[in-house]
Amino acid sequence: MRIDDLGAELGGLRGRTVLVRSDLNAPMAGGVITDDGRIRASLPTITKLAARGARVVVMAHLGRPEGVRNGAYSLRPAAHRMSELLGTEVAFATDTVGESARSTVAGLADGEIALLENVRFEPAETAQADQVRAARAEQLATLADAFVSDGFGVVHRKQASVYDIARCLPSAMGDLVAAEITVLERLTEEPAGPYVVALGGSKVSDKLGVIDNLLEKADKLLIGGGMAYTFLAARGFEVGTSLLEPDQVDTCRRYLERARQSGVELLLPSDAVVADRFAADAQARVVAADSIPSDAMGLDIGPETARTFAAALADARTVFWNGPMGVFEFDAFAEGTRAVAQALTKVDGLAVVGGGDSAAAIRRLGCDESAYGHISTGGGASLEYLEGKTLPGVEVLRCVAP
Ligand code: 3PG
Repeated sequence: MRIDDLGAELGGLRGRTVLVRSDLNAPMAGGVITDDGRIRASLPTITKLAARGARVVVMAHLGRPEGVRNGAYSLRPAAHRMSELLGTEVAFATDTVGESARSTVAGLADGEIALLENVRFEPAETAQADQVRAARAEQLATLADAFVSDGFGVVHRKQASVYDIARCLPSAMGDLVAAEITVLERLTEEPAGPYVVALGGSKVSDKLGVIDNLLEKADKLLIGGGMAYTFLAARGFEVGTSLLEPDQVDTCRRYLERARQSGVELLLPSDAVVADRFAADAQARVVAADSIPSDAMGLDIGPETARTFAAALADARTVFWNGPMGVFEFDAFAEGTRAVAQALTKVDGLAVVGGGDSAAAIRRLGCDESAYGHISTGGGASLEYLEGKTLPGVEVLRCVAP
């Protein structure tokens, strides 16, 4: 069910305490949020519930503190940022089911909002054992009358505040999760062609599932970023000191062969921007992808590749992009990612930025967010969906729906 259905089931949301699972896992440096995209994306559902008079209690995680309380992973900065963005105070509880949480929730008036501390400070949140997580979810459930699942970035995790909690309370899918799923369905159910998938990021092993599942569904597959070097090695090229996953070379070779047999255009970089070391001030130079010097490290796709990729995207009707084309955090190695990001803004059709680093990249590079069909808040979650896996945090809502 959705929020309207939940309201109907509860006889209205006014005065009801609603636990909302959001994904506020925003990158931070020295306690300062460096990209608040996920926080901003979480606000519409929260404000919708508050506007209907609910007392909104937000649960979220930050990083992977592995069940240990650790100030570096505190969500307090997220509560500040939410308060700033909303122009109204968001109360912060320094625990999740203890004294602070109980008194904070008890102090909420209708339409007010609180954020609980990082749910992953408690080991039971991520426990493998079903009964351990279930017991934890029961504790969280005592805080509220209902649950809204809106942390799309985490719906691929079978965790207490994502999955088990939905079995304890009347539960609804939040608007962000619903919007993300609608887009993913458009990408998988008869996408308009040409369908171009652009993949980057550092590790090819993170993308094997999605390559495997999309290889024959896409018309073109563009491969850049660190993962491209394992493909280049599979083509038989030397890649110098670039990122390489030797145990995946054979797999990449098989994908190249599958693409050839099925007529899918699989484009690898023809040139690369290399340096002698991984540093922002390293001397950058462009070399052909088949002649990377033995002491050089590829840190971006080259200008010729950027033009080829942009041309491949130009006539696309559907695009899914996940993973930067290079080390966009360093100005000298950001141009490949910028070229792909800009090419997506010109797509006459559905252009989806698949979360995580790619979403952070378009904001860091100053691209106009409104120029994209959809910017996902969940890198891992969208990849798992496109791999054909089920998302536990979504499935459980369907199972418990009346
Ligand atoms: C993400 O950053 O992709 C989500 O917040 C999920 O985080 P996790 O990979 O630590 O579960």
